[in-house]
Amino acid sequence: MNLTKELKNFPYPFKGDTYRYSNNSTLLTPPKCIDISGGYLKEVNLKRSLLTEHHARCYQSYPYTNKAQWEVLELVMTHLATYFPENFSFKSEGDSHIFTNHILNEKHEFIMGDDSTLPYEPLDFIGRHVQEDLLLMMQRDGDLYLDAGQLCFPGNWSLAFNHGLSFKNIHFPIPGFKEEGLDDRILRFLLNLEAGNPWGRKNWSLMAGYRMDTSIETFDIWGKDRKKVTIDNAGEFVHLRVEVQKLFRLPRSNAILFTIHTHLLPLDKLLGIPEWRRQLYEILTELPSHIADYKGMSLFKDKVVAYMEQKGESDL
Ligand code: HEM
Repeated sequence: MNLTKELKNFPYPFKGDTYRYSNNSTLLTPPKCIDISGGYLKEVNLKRSLLTEHHARCYQSYPYTNKAQWEVLELVMTHLATYFPENFSFKSEGDSHIFTNHILNEKHEFIMGDDSTLPYEPLDFIGRHVQEDLLLMMQRDGDLYLDAGQLCFPGNWSLAFNHGLSFKNIHFPIPGFKEEGLDDRILRFLLNLEAGNPWGRKNWSLMAGYRMDTSIETFDIWGKDRKKVTIDNAGEFVHLRVEVQKLFRLPRSNAILFTIHTHLLPLDKLLGIPEWRRQLYEILTELPSHIADYKGMSLFKDKVVAYMEQKGESDL
């Protein structure tokens, strides 16, 4: 089947015909912490305007994360120049470093570790050159804490609310996560993460409407879209939202960099691929209500299923 470039590059998240929460992380190859995908310019500009208008909602940090932030900046710049040399360069000249973003036509000369040579904190600065949300987990007392982050495209959560929280407290709202001991197992997995061996995973949900910035703080704007889904408009209005998440242990600060690259795909485009259509149908019809509720799709899931049945009787 001849797939469009968009579908070829779309990070399809499903493996089996049913979905349950699990540690679905896999070793990352190639070990790059960022990816440049279609929509780079649009998303980076959207990020920059969100950061200008709602800085405290989209960026939080504690002063003691500064060294780890510089480590993130260096890692991301190195990966941009290594994996996308036609669009980015990163050189050191004498005491200073020169980072050039050829897509945005921006050149920055700075001294590594010297905050006065950057217009923003290091994490906030480098986050403005990538589509990923960048979160920094600091490790102490055998636990992990969300101590700094730039989050412009959250999937129905709040950085300001979760800032400073431990891994388990962040995941407390997820139904069954604690009861099934998943939080313990995943925390242990993260505490054993090694520098040089990054991992990745995908998270997914269905979303009504097309919007990257679905923070809890803006729920009053996008939440009501869930009531606008009909059997007729589901194909265009509903999107599969996939988060490509990556986990890197930082060797110097021992912190963990958690990156999230959000992708949205209209339902109709997904349904154009028979195997994807069949599998999504199986997953949605079998999905436990507590997961559908938590993922915020209970109000329109049945309309999506009815739309799929109406659209593809023969194949489902
Ligand atoms: C280490 C950095 C991580 C951070 C900062 C993080 C943060 C979050 C946040 C804020 C949520 C939403 C919770 C809410 O409802 O308020 C969430 C959901 C979730 N997280 Fe994490 N997470 C991390 C790593 C992981 C890992 C490694 C896994 C699994 C291997 C994981 C599995 C999940 C799952 C299954 C959900 C529910 C998602 C859904 O159903 O849409 N998280 N995470």
